[in-house]
Amino acid sequence: MTKLSLIPLVAALLFPAAASANMTTEEAIKYRQSGYTFMSWNMSRIRSNVEGEFNRDEVVRSANAIAAIANSGMGSLFVPGSETGSGWKATRVKPELFSDTDGVTKVALAFIKEANEMAKIAPTASPAAVRAQFGKLGNSCKGCHDNYRGPNR
Ligand code: HEC
Repeated sequence: MTKLSLIPLVAALLFPAAASANMTTEEAIKYRQSGYTFMSWNMSRIRSNVEGEFNRDEVVRSANAIAAIANSGMGSLFVPGSETGSGWKATRVKPELFSDTDGVTKVALAFIKEANEMAKIAPTASPAAVRAQFGKLGNSCKGCHDNYRGPNR
């Protein structure tokens, strides 16, 4: 529980205990950078569908991939000690992510909510509605980045 004690709120949802077992700092940073990069690919796929020809199957696949990562408990990859260091590259996390429990919980829950909503509507919603939800989802990514992700270094 020591790792989880940093972030007691909604711990079960955001910070499942199992994932932090026996993970090096470098691995934790690699996993989270990979998860974010993979979501970014899926966001760009949704974007090209709402801006160009709308292929619903591709939107559904991308939305489901993002929701799966959103619900995967990525919070457990912010293990103590990974405030600095490198995974695939130097981490861009800000130290505030490890201390501002309430703020992080808020942006993380907002992101999970928007990701689940996108997955829910993708099979049936109009392209305009998918586009609107894409905007909300993107804003929820930004809501975290603005506070807890620093510049490239
Ligand atoms: C709860 C906070 C949070 C949310 C929500 C979030 N990110 Fe991030 N993101 C981060 C942090 C922190 C990093 C830096 C990770 C590191 O380098 O250790 C990051 C890094 C990234 C990177 C760079 C990865 C790399 O290899 O350097 C991309 C791309 C990215 N995020 C995209 C997204 C997208 C797209 C979404 C929404 C679908 C999203 N993020 C949602 C916090 C968040």
